[in-house]
Amino acid sequence: MDYSKWLKNRELEYKNGVLHIAGMNTIELSEKYGTPVYIVNENLIRIRYRKLKETLDSEYENNAIHYAVKANSNLSVLKILKSEGASFDCSSVGEIYTCFKAGIKPKSIFYTGNMFTNQDFKFAVENDILINLDSISQINRLVKVYDDLGKEKKTISFRINPEFGAGHHAHTITAGKYIKFGILGHQVIEAYSKAKQLGFNKFGIHMHIGSGVLDAHDFEKATEKLLSIAINLTDTLDMKLEFIDFGGGIGIPYRPEEDDFNLELYKNIVLKKFVDITEREVFGKPILKIEPGRYISAEASIILTQINTIKDNGFKLFAGVDAGFHTLVRPTMYSAYHHIIPCETKQGVQSLKYDIAGPICESGDILGKEREFPELKEEDFLAVLDAGAYGYVMSSSYNSRPRPAEILINNGQPYLIRESEKFDDMLSHQIIPEHLK
Ligand code: LLP
Repeated sequence: MDYSKWLKNRELEYKNGVLHIAGMNTIELSEKYGTPVYIVNENLIRIRYRKLKETLDSEYENNAIHYAVKANSNLSVLKILKSEGASFDCSSVGEIYTCFKAGIKPKSIFYTGNMFTNQDFKFAVENDILINLDSISQINRLVKVYDDLGKEKKTISFRINPEFGAGHHAHTITAGKYIKFGILGHQVIEAYSKAKQLGFNKFGIHMHIGSGVLDAHDFEKATEKLLSIAINLTDTLDMKLEFIDFGGGIGIPYRPEEDDFNLELYKNIVLKKFVDITEREVFGKPILKIEPGRYISAEASIILTQINTIKDNGFKLFAGVDAGFHTLVRPTMYSAYHHIIPCETKQGVQSLKYDIAGPICESGDILGKEREFPELKEEDFLAVLDAGAYGYVMSSSYNSRPRPAEILINNGQPYLIRESEKFDDMLSHQIIPEHLK
């Protein structure tokens, strides 16, 4: 894609040589709030949500987008999406609790956990949360929780593992015979018969094939498989499905040379095939659900970081910065590419290749390898792009480095939406036993 268009898609542009995000000067933001710092662009989250919503609405009105909270669970981000009318996908009780704190109602939450404990079930049942089971074996424990709490059993769903997985890295492919998630096709009739027998009376079906899928074709086989399973289920057990959830996974172009995910193709490969089967009378009109995380929040955030050290060891040039894998683990964990750009352009200086290195005491703490920049200097600021999904949520205080602040930009105004951690925050839950005092 054309580079300036790629930047513009993220509401990033250089004005008088200075990088601006959503119209705000990144150097001023860095100086005001200190680095490293996450900057979140509210408008872009809304734009991405609306684009997906329009895509779904254009094919089938009875739809719901469940934003995958795991991608970015900041309360302000959740409130932005709530105000857009989004629903939510939670992977843990902690995420459900966070949604409640953002004022989100139980009815718009879908709970796709895995390896559920009885405590997880208890919290979900007490709070009327729709549960998506991950194993047939879990249903007996779930029923016991319903019975112990004297709650009426209503809707239940299973996560299907359609065996056709995809994703940007082996760790993010979530379908296949040897993958821990969901139940396989041959277990589906048993699962739903059992659910019926145990007293559930409404049913949904779900899949999630993986994360960071940039080619919509990768959804094709899994979609066909899920739909054939759904048809077989309605025919064999004479049950109407309340919803079919195609999961998340829609990727973003982290590299400027990549194209956007092709939503038109996704429409043909996933949505239209779903609509086709709803033409069958017996099938009814189930809700069409998807659960994107990254597509909605990734491009909306950048990390601003300052260079503290330029090191030339004679073999390699390093630009040492104050962000690292404690603030963004994706490059280290998945060898993921995040584009890194200077906050200020420079004229008439030579271009050099740098490894952008964080301060964590591990050689793997490299945010970007062999990146070309006009000669960098200590105290320059850089922006690490597309950090809004699986960025802050996967951060840590490793090496006892406090997590950074988060700033929301809305209508040309910055708002502090999360303070940076203090040293004492990192120590606050420790208890020293008497004999060590
Ligand atoms: N639904 C389910 C059941 C999921 O497990 C996930 C992601 C999503 C939806 C949202 O997927 P998305 O649309 O964001 O691709 N930490 C990794 C990604 C792990 C995703 C786990 N599940 C990364 O940084 O790439």
